[in-house]
Amino acid sequence: MISKLKHLLIFLCVILLSIPETFSQEISKEERLQWFKDAKLGIFIHWGIYAVDGIDESWSFHNGKISHKDYMKQLKGFTASNYNPEEWAKLIKESGATYTVITSKHHDGVALWDSKYSKLDVFDKTPAKRDLLKPFEEAIRNEGLKFGLYYSLIDWSNDNYPNFLRNEKRYENDEKRWQKFVTFNFNQIGEITENYKPDLVWFDGDWEFNAEQWKAKEIRELLLTKLPTTIINSRLQGYGDYATPEQGLPIVKPESHYWELCLTMNDSWGYQGRDTNYKSVNQIIRILVDCISMGGNLLLDIGPKADGTIPEEQVKILKGLGRWTSKHKEAIYVTLAGIPHGHFYGPTALSKDKKTLYLYIDNKPNGTIAIKGLNNNVVKAYVVGSGTELNTKVVGKLSWSKVPGILYIGIPESELDSDVTVIALQLDGEVSLYREDMKAIESN
Ligand code: GLC
Repeated sequence: MISKLKHLLIFLCVILLSIPETFSQEISKEERLQWFKDAKLGIFIHWGIYAVDGIDESWSFHNGKISHKDYMKQLKGFTASNYNPEEWAKLIKESGATYTVITSKHHDGVALWDSKYSKLDVFDKTPAKRDLLKPFEEAIRNEGLKFGLYYSLIDWSNDNYPNFLRNEKRYENDEKRWQKFVTFNFNQIGEITENYKPDLVWFDGDWEFNAEQWKAKEIRELLLTKLPTTIINSRLQGYGDYATPEQGLPIVKPESHYWELCLTMNDSWGYQGRDTNYKSVNQIIRILVDCISMGGNLLLDIGPKADGTIPEEQVKILKGLGRWTSKHKEAIYVTLAGIPHGHFYGPTALSKDKKTLYLYIDNKPNGTIAIKGLNNNVVKAYVVGSGTELNTKVVGKLSWSKVPGILYIGIPESELDSDVTVIALQLDGEVSLYREDMKAIESN
């Protein structure tokens, strides 16, 4: 009997001791961000009432290009009458993107869902009269993609938010009113977190106040308590997970291990019919390749019209991207940043095991291409997409020197891609580079 009791006590102790362990098992940042690191291409969506007149999202009234009253008249024209979330999701998938981020609410405060905490939403104030996020979330998940929500911390239409127009504030130094706004923000953030369980939350506008004022730490805690696997962009005053350079391709590999370049296809985030200054498919593919080569992602923006149709030029770009991404999958997803500049004149990437080196060729080579300082032997060189094997030749390798020779690879013209050709080099082990100063060889 005593021994039975003893066993029971030991058993209970073990259970009790393991409880705090279970609760405190926070998912590491690396685990949470793994899918993001591998994702490479996402589609950003700026959809809001600004598409009705085709003017700058939120900024147009903030900067005084239009009065707030006239800006809000657009609510009446936001119909979403041709909105087809399944088609959107299919198109996004076809582009080769593996995630999407949609504006749940921009700085104008107009929510794309039926918010309990504000009447300024598409359900109460527009002919769309429904939650526009839910069907999209479902369609995106059905396609096997990750779902992200953009949320503006700034709300220039909220009576309790201090800032309104560039030259007109509602109030200053009114802690009570500010706290009301902070509570409102928490409520809406909680609402979208519960309704849509986003895999990623993309904050914007953090620059207007500091971390303490926004309660950035608490926002992060709220999100990670409700959604332990979600990830957060950097615009949360130091409480995000990854960096978000905007509209400019980094020239030097960003210091942050996790980053994403957000980029418009033309010069506008939202739909603006007059803006026809689109980047070409080729230019966008080359930007994507640069992001991949530096270990980052491209978050490419589309701006649907007020009725929910995606402008034709944008559809063309997404499909053009899809042609290239579907052919070059193995050199896009789940890759690592490439080798340092100098070994090859162009962007490169590595497979996860570092045993395959991808070379991206965005111009027509004038003869063979060359790789310098590669210690490895190449087991096989081939064109990604067609699989065609290529001849390689090492020149200048001296048997008594450890300095590698120059590896030349010829690519038949018929193998060149119309945008960016990718060559894979299967190496005899993990990539190894020669980077010493060249010196006299003292002993032959
Ligand atoms: C800027 C702008 C905003 C846009 C965002 C996208 O922060 O304020 O209009 O939505 O960039 O990155």
